[in-house]
Amino acid sequence: MYEAKTSAIHSNAVITAIGTYVPDRILTNADLEKLVDTNDEWIMQRTGIQERRIASDNQFTSDLCFAAVHNMIERYAVTVTDVDYVIVATSTPDAIFPSVASQVQAHFGMNSSGAMDLQAACAGFAAGIQLANGLLLSGAYRKILIIGAETLSKITDYTDRTTCILFGDGAGAFLMEASNDGQGNVIAVHSKTDGAQGHMLYRSSLAPMLGEHPIQTNGLIVQNGREVYRWVVTQVAAGVCELLERSKLTTTDIDWFIPHSANMRIITSLCESTGFSIDQTLTSIRAFGNTSAASIPLAIDEAVKANKIKPGQLMLLYGFGGGLTQAGVVLRWSL
Ligand code: UT7
Repeated sequence: MYEAKTSAIHSNAVITAIGTYVPDRILTNADLEKLVDTNDEWIMQRTGIQERRIASDNQFTSDLCFAAVHNMIERYAVTVTDVDYVIVATSTPDAIFPSVASQVQAHFGMNSSGAMDLQAACAGFAAGIQLANGLLLSGAYRKILIIGAETLSKITDYTDRTTCILFGDGAGAFLMEASNDGQGNVIAVHSKTDGAQGHMLYRSSLAPMLGEHPIQTNGLIVQNGREVYRWVVTQVAAGVCELLERSKLTTTDIDWFIPHSANMRIITSLCESTGFSIDQTLTSIRAFGNTSAASIPLAIDEAVKANKIKPGQLMLLYGFGGGLTQAGVVLRWSL
């Protein structure tokens, strides 16, 4: 039925494999109670986060990417040596350059592959899918690896109780290939950025100012939680509705809503204002916290492993965060 209604954009991109990885070390709410003045009840009630995974001192974003891709190869028996392009969405690269994507290219011996990191914060994975769809459709490439990966624990201020309770580490990968019949999985896309509010959520590096706003330069995450929350429940909710309109679908046509796992309270508000039910919403928030660019593939993979998602089902992925930026995709699942 949805076939007749969906002609929003062209696509020849088919998802052919998924893989994920999270580090072994668990940081519980009880552990956080020992670091800052907080408690499990407050964290659960305000965020829905029970625990997060934390990379070891010598484990970096590239290591999480390698593990997620190995997981994908083991489960779907795909080859990656012939990948044409690697895109890694991350805000926590091991270094500014070389890119994490370059390290993935080398690690897997993708000898004729291009590589780049994409920085769109928590919107990065959905932005990566948008980009991959365009590159495949252009005919320039036939096989693209998109990874959302973060080691946010390395840039989290564990003396700031308003942020340290939120963030965790993880990685998720999609393999996307050009179909031979020209039929792809991407149905609609939407992006929107409000750069004037960039100082509401940032990780500083060299500049002491963001626009007209003086910022901290200690290299850690700083967030005005209330303002970001307000932006999500108004602007991001509007963006989800815009994406639905572009797809010519309704919330009942969509099988699965996968918003960025920022916080369960935000997700509940987003559901209320967009019309999605909590039952059709997939998150990775309880067990992994906010893993930024990794949160959407982690949520999808949990549901894939639980046999919830079936081939042919429709899903709406929506990332939002630092920038402030948002990016979403409506997809037909093909695995
Ligand atoms: O992925 C990027 C997108 N980011 C987000 O989506 C985050 C958006 N923001 C939020 O999720 C929420 O703003 C937070 C979870 C970060 C904070 O929740 P809130 O309900 O907005 O709390 P608040 O900042 O308004 O603070 C309420 C109270 C304050 O105490 P007073 O001033 O009322 O006495 C805070 O000091 O809660 C206090 N508080 C805490 N108490 C216990 C703040 N953090 C904590 C804490 N434990 N960890």
